[in-house]
Amino acid sequence: MLSGKKILLGISAGIAAYKTASLVRLLVKSGAEVRVVMTPDAKSFVTPLTLSTLTNHPVLSSFTDTDEDHAVWNNHVTLGLWADFFVLAPATANTLAKMAQGASDNFLLATYLSLKCPVYFAPAMDLDMHAHPATQASFARLQSYGNIMIPAEHGELASGLVGQGRMAEPENIMAFIEHDLRSKAPLNGQHYLITAGPTFELIDPVRYIGNFSSGKMGYALANRAAELGAKVTLVSGPTKDLSLHPEILKIDVITGTEMFDAVSSVFDSCHVAVLCAAVADFKPKEQSDQKIKNKTEDWTLSLKPTRDIAQTLGERKADQCLVGFALETQDGLAQAKMKLKKKNLDIIVLNSLGDKGVAFGADTNKITIVESNGTHSTYPVKLKTEVAADVIDFIIQKHHA
Ligand code: C5P
Repeated sequence: MLSGKKILLGISAGIAAYKTASLVRLLVKSGAEVRVVMTPDAKSFVTPLTLSTLTNHPVLSSFTDTDEDHAVWNNHVTLGLWADFFVLAPATANTLAKMAQGASDNFLLATYLSLKCPVYFAPAMDLDMHAHPATQASFARLQSYGNIMIPAEHGELASGLVGQGRMAEPENIMAFIEHDLRSKAPLNGQHYLITAGPTFELIDPVRYIGNFSSGKMGYALANRAAELGAKVTLVSGPTKDLSLHPEILKIDVITGTEMFDAVSSVFDSCHVAVLCAAVADFKPKEQSDQKIKNKTEDWTLSLKPTRDIAQTLGERKADQCLVGFALETQDGLAQAKMKLKKKNLDIIVLNSLGDKGVAFGADTNKITIVESNGTHSTYPVKLKTEVAADVIDFIIQKHHA
C-alpha cells in the first residue's frame, strides 16, 4: 500500500523523535519515498544527518539554508504539493495547538498549511498534557479539518508516569496508515485476476513456439490495480526484468495449459479478470521428451489448437467482469467486436499493430476500448503505465460504479 508513495514526515520536538529513524526505515523499506521536515527544536532529539542518510534527501527545518555561501529559500509550497500524504510524528501539544490555530512561525507549520494531501498526526506527550482540555480541543479541531489522528498509546512515559501519551510505535504507525489507506482505496475488497506475457509451447526440452509479448502491459495493469487497493493475482508467462508491486501474488507459468490451470483455479474467487496474455494459439501435437536430433531433410511439425482461456471463462463466468485484449494487424475494430461476442467478454481492449507507438516490447501503446453494447472509445498513444490507468479507470467506472 505504501510502495511508490511520496511521504512527508514532520517531526516536532518530543523525546519520541528518536524513534523516527526506525519509522523512516520502515517506510523506505516498504517502497515509499520519504522526505523530512522538522521543527528547529526537534533537531535536539534526532539529528538531520541521521534522517537525511536514511531518506537520501536533505532534511528541512528552516525557510532558508546556505549552500556554498548562497542563501537558498526552501519552498514549503512545493514540498507540500509533492507529498501524497503527511505524517507528523511525534506530534507535540505545542505543534498541534499551532496547527489547529493556523500559526506558521516555523517551516514545518508553513508546510502543513500548504498541504493538499491527507494528514496523519501521532500525538506524543505526557499523560496530563494529553488529557488537558486544550490539547483535546486541538485534536478535535484538527480532526474537524479532516486530519487523521493516530492515537497515542498507553504505557510508560518519559516523565516516569504511566498513562496515555506515548507516541504509537513505528510499526503501529505504519500499520495504522496502511489500514487507513487500504480502507479508502477505490478497489479495496476487489480481487483482480490478470494474465500477462507470452506462453511458450514446448516442442522438446530445449525448443518452443513462442511470441514477442513482453508482458509490460499486463504487469502495468496488475501494478495499477494493486496501487488502487485491489488484491491482485497475476498469472505470468515468461517475462524479463519487470517490476511488480510487492503485494501482488504472481504465479509463473510457461505453457498455455499451465496458464489455463492457474487461471482456472483462481477465477471463481475473482471479481474482475483481465486477460492480457498473448497465449499461443497452437501447440505441438506431440512434445518430445528428448531433444529432437538435427535433420538434413525437411521436417513437418504438427500443431493443434490450445484451449482458449478467455472463451472458457466467458462460458463459465457468474458476475465477474471479463476483459480481453485483441492485437490485430487489420480490420481491428470489427475483429475486436467479433471476439468480444464470441468469448462473451464484457470489455475488449484493442491494440492495432499498424498504429504508431504500438509494438511488442514498446513502452507505449494505443488502445480502443470496446464494450459489449458495441460502443467504443479510442485513446491517444500513451505510456503503458498510463494506458493501464485508463483501462482500470474504465473498469471502475463501468463495473464498480
Ligand atoms: O483470439 P485472440 O488470441 O486474438 O484473443 C485475444 C484474447 O483472448 C486475449 O484477451 C487473450 O489473452 C485471450 N486468449 C486466451 N486464451 C487463448 C487465446 C487468447 O485467453 N488460448
